[in-house]
Amino acid sequence: SQKTVAVVVGSIRKESFNRQFAEALVKQFPTELKAQFIRIDDLPLYNQDDDGNPAPQVTRLRGEIKAADAVLFVTAEYNRSVPGVLKNAIDHASRPWGQSVWAGKPAGVVGVSVGAIGTSLAQQHLRNVLAYLDMPTLGQPEMFLQWKEGLVQDGAIGPDSKEFVQKYVDAFAAWVKKQA
Ligand code: FNR
Repeated sequence: SQKTVAVVVGSIRKESFNRQFAEALVKQFPTELKAQFIRIDDLPLYNQDDDGNPAPQVTRLRGEIKAADAVLFVTAEYNRSVPGVLKNAIDHASRPWGQSVWAGKPAGVVGVSVGAIGTSLAQQHLRNVLAYLDMPTLGQPEMFLQWKEGLVQDGAIGPDSKEFVQKYVDAFAAWVKKQA
């Protein structure tokens, strides 16, 4: 049966390379995976005082993650870590204590940056967080991408990276199936 993958992009800017990449990547999903892009740009800043009275955007986020079978994080790197907007979303859906909606969801971590290290340090930090959240995260292959002209062409992964991305997607699909 078809599995829903919540795609969480760790950048909220309009022309985000990570968003462009994520939208192209999901076109290579096999038929057993369905992508659902998760909105995080309208979430308030996480404040523990609001745990008992969450904003509707927080309730929406929690519901979407809860309903998903897996999560794919496509993150930018800010100052050698994940952007605050992504951490904010992760924190929201991890609370109230004992009611995290992340637990047990199989996860993948990929990312695109303009620097040559291609989000590797952000991804490493994110893996640390996901381990704590009890999300079984695909270890290999890793995908650290540097944004270059042609990585995404007309909304699809460009010819130089298509095969590489397909290998990742296939491994991720197998991972999701295995964890189910
Ligand atoms: C960056 N950028 C960046 N790149 C990188 O490879 N390593 C880093 O540590 C950082 N740090 C960083 C901090 C801040 C505050 C900004 C705004 C940017 C550059 C980053 O890769 C670039 O802005 C990408 O375009 C961000 O991804 P999106 O928004 O295009 O998806």
